[in-house]
Amino acid sequence: MTQNNTGNSATLTVEGKSYTLPIITGTEGDKAIDISGLLQETGYMTLDSGYKNTGSCTSAITYLDGTNGILRYRGYAIEELAEKCLFIEVAYLLIHGHLPTRTEFDNFKYLLRRFALLHEDMIHFFDHFPPNAPPMSILSVMVNSLCNYYPEMGDDPLTNIDMTAARLISKIRTIAAFSYKKSMGHPLVYPRPDLNYCGNFLNMMFDKPVHPYTVQPETVAALNKLLILHADHEQNCSTSTVRLVGSAGVNLYASISAGINALWGPLHGGANEAVISMLKTIHADGNNFKKYIDKAKDKSDPFRLSGFGHRVYKTYDPRGTIIQEACDDLLLTLNISDPLLDIARQLEEIALNDEYFVSRNLFPNVDFYSGIIYRAIGIPTNMFTVMFALGRLPGWIAQWKEQQENPNTKIGRPRQVYTGEPAREFVPMNERG
Ligand code: CMC
Repeated sequence: MTQNNTGNSATLTVEGKSYTLPIITGTEGDKAIDISGLLQETGYMTLDSGYKNTGSCTSAITYLDGTNGILRYRGYAIEELAEKCLFIEVAYLLIHGHLPTRTEFDNFKYLLRRFALLHEDMIHFFDHFPPNAPPMSILSVMVNSLCNYYPEMGDDPLTNIDMTAARLISKIRTIAAFSYKKSMGHPLVYPRPDLNYCGNFLNMMFDKPVHPYTVQPETVAALNKLLILHADHEQNCSTSTVRLVGSAGVNLYASISAGINALWGPLHGGANEAVISMLKTIHADGNNFKKYIDKAKDKSDPFRLSGFGHRVYKTYDPRGTIIQEACDDLLLTLNISDPLLDIARQLEEIALNDEYFVSRNLFPNVDFYSGIIYRAIGIPTNMFTVMFALGRLPGWIAQWKEQQENPNTKIGRPRQVYTGEPAREFVPMNERG
């Protein structure tokens, strides 16, 4: 189902000699020229900095059409999943390839409840980070450390994979909430088996002995939607990192920890935090939109409009459309008026009517409005990218699992065109002047 070789082929002529290369066609019509034998046959490699046009794998998990703004997980439209599913249902779908039956869902829920606690020794780790340690750094360290406490994977990375996956999905929210509580100097709030996945997380974040937290269904629903929208996005930077690290045969925890570090970057998941700081700066600067639009267009200025543009989408990011609606709904329901939302809207309108952004197909992406929802929920800005990681985790797991299950997987090892010094003679130190 994942691919089919249509029998078509491409012809490449190098130095007057022609070579035939197979064409691979995906189930939705994606076409790729298979160049894996090119070096051996021709002596030429291909060069594609930033992998703008390089497929690193075939995958049956997520379909993305960036020209038409289509995103599907396992064949299901993102719009429908975001509207009708629970995040853990989508997590199951991504990892197992089908929506869970009632029994499968109950079993999965049981595992998530069973694995929600952290080993008490690990809780001491939090005491040894400096007070302002970035939450993404803490998250990657803690996730990596899980393999020391839960080493059930054995030598074969796929042993107990379903249990490890559930363990990770459950524990990551405990780690995230505990790291927040520790950073605030508040007592930890342990997971509650009576609460659902998102409600449990919010309760661990915000419940306090003197100010009990009431889990509100609207807030839970908004968080559930955001996590679904982030759950997978095929071969993006962090997912490719997970696969690259996984291709060396390393365990799931270590591979995911590497993905968390990749996601941290402001060009990737870190953009949601950067958007809020950009909107605050514009606000503090008297809503001087022109100044920031001009800065974003100025090639000598490193400033970019955070939350705008995407490597793959050349139209509206479908996730962004859903998030905008969810954002409006939540703020209305909670009766919150956030000045940053107005600034975001105005900035979007100006950019979408500016030739620079129009000609480059730069639209708001998933990160442009997500931060406003997180703010309304009460999540602090420095935790936004952690929230992205919570959402993306099932996708990383599914991609890692698919890779490990594929008997044709090879270690990831790109090539380079060397541009350094040609061979030269070694000069002993006392002769170097
Ligand atoms: N503001 C101003 N100019 C931009 C922006 C932006 N946000 N994004 C792209 N451009 C310009 C860029 O300067 C280039 O112009 P020119 O052709 O004149 O050199 C052109 O648009 C193409 O951009 P690129 O950098 O070649 O595109 P890319 O595919 O390498 O980068 C991107 C994609 C997302 C890194 C980039 O659009 C960007 O930096 N956006 C802001 C950061 C951001 O929002 N990241 C979150 C991405 S979505 C969530 C996720 O998947 O992580």
